[in-house]
Amino acid sequence: MNPPGPPTEPSAAAADASPLPARTVCRSPDETRALAARLADECPDGTVLCLHGDLGAGKTCFVQGLARAIGVRRPVGSPTFTLVNEYRGRRGLAHIDLYRVRGAVDAFSLGLEDYLEHYPGIVAIEWAERASDFMPEDAWHVRLSPGDGENARIVEIARPG
Ligand SMILES: Nc1ncnc2c1ncn2[C@@H]1O[C@H](COP(=O)(O)OP(=O)(O)O)[C@@H](O)[C@H]1O
Ligand SMILES: [Mg+2]
Repeated sequence: MNPPGPPTEPSAAAADASPLPARTVCRSPDETRALAARLADECPDGTVLCLHGDLGAGKTCFVQGLARAIGVRRPVGSPTFTLVNEYRGRRGLAHIDLYRVRGAVDAFSLGLEDYLEHYPGIVAIEWAERASDFMPEDAWHVRLSPGDGENARIVEIARPG
């Protein structure tokens, strides 16, 4: 996840339908949502999207953008009492948050295997590194980190292969 070149502003990137840049600076929550929405359009059904970044980095915000893109009307928050929240829009969105998962976990006992194999939509996983052994090799990885200023986030996208 060390792509060359300067960050690309989403406003410039949004002008065309080419694949998203590997690194983008988002200057507000809405810019992060808009970037996520564009990524959703690139993800085929069954895509596992691993979201990395500290608490408050913007992972849940990113999932809100995915939800917007597929036409989910329900508000998207963090799955607090469950591991998985499922949303239905034009296709599915499974929002998984492994934050509360501690120690050695396996996807099977967490009931994740149905989501990790042929889910009819996008599977977005916060704190995916807590079950990294079980993430598919062709998962996509998104890393959010603080940028320059309170509302700036650097969003790095790594596609498989
Ligand atoms: N550019 C930005 N992108 C995403 N979130 C941002 C941005 N700027 C400020 N924020 C704020 O940061 C917080 C991110 O929270 P959240 O998405 O729940 O993080 P996480 O799920 O990574 O813990 C929200 O309060 C959001 O409003
Ligand atoms: Mg979150």
